[in-house]
Amino acid sequence: MYSSLIVETNDRISTITINRPDKLNALNKTVIEELGSAIDEMINNPEVSSAIITGSGPKAFVAGADISEFSTLDAAGGKALAQKGQDLVFSRIENSPKPIIAAVNGFALGGGCELAMACHFRVASESAKFGQPEVNLGLIPGYGGTQRLVQLIGKGRAMELLMTGNMIDAATAHQFGLVNHVVKAEELIDKAKSILSLINTKAPLAIAGCIKAANAVFNEAENGYAIEIETFGNLIASADAKEGASAFLEKRKASFKGQ
Ligand code: COA
Repeated sequence: MYSSLIVETNDRISTITINRPDKLNALNKTVIEELGSAIDEMINNPEVSSAIITGSGPKAFVAGADISEFSTLDAAGGKALAQKGQDLVFSRIENSPKPIIAAVNGFALGGGCELAMACHFRVASESAKFGQPEVNLGLIPGYGGTQRLVQLIGKGRAMELLMTGNMIDAATAHQFGLVNHVVKAEELIDKAKSILSLINTKAPLAIAGCIKAANAVFNEAENGYAIEIETFGNLIASADAKEGASAFLEKRKASFKGQ
């Protein structure tokens, strides 16, 4: 049903694979539109609790926005490209009430690094490489990279990566806090699935609350403490929180319903 994505769902986890390996999974117009639809679909599908985004082939997660689509763009076209991508994909991933994590299996450059950073957190294979090489093209990131890189690794490290265009390897990305885990390539998807399987046992409304409140740290228009108080209050009245407390007191496993 998608031309540039493969979406498979098992055990309530959707694995969304960007599938243009001959172009190192570069984000062209079709990939952006299809990613937008796939994310919408997983958010709205009651059979799915969480998702993994990864890239096809052994070489790349995503090697950036598709540079072949850049040459004809004027200023308005460039702004529209960045805005559309952010609205359709990057902000939508970040604000998804269901966890979406990146399994980075190779080059995550430019839009690829930005895509990984828009996810709630990242796991990487030992061969993963991260970078924002846009300055080599006379550009800056357009899919949130200047913002999320600073948020994730700090201003000094981000400034150096943005201005040099240098790549960092998986070990350095781990040391910088850009990725949570580095594993062998053949263990990457299993590692991502095992983390999501654990998260999927928790109350879905509480997971959505974690995402909403933690995201508020980076949104100046919101008061994260106020959002935490509001969300905590709403959750404590929920059926799942009653079930969680009862299960604890009765020394049994809680059974959450997402209500
Ligand atoms: N956009 C469009 N096509 C891309 C691409 C991108 N961002 N990244 C790679 N490709 C294409 C190459 O043009 C090549 O296509 P071809 O076989 O039809 O010539 C194919 O993918 C393989 O890439 P290639 O450059 O031959 O592989 P490599 O192993 O020599 O180098 C990279 C790998 C990742 C270092 C190199 O492809 C690269 O620098 N890509 C661009 C990264 C970038 O600047 N991204 C930010 C964009 S804003």
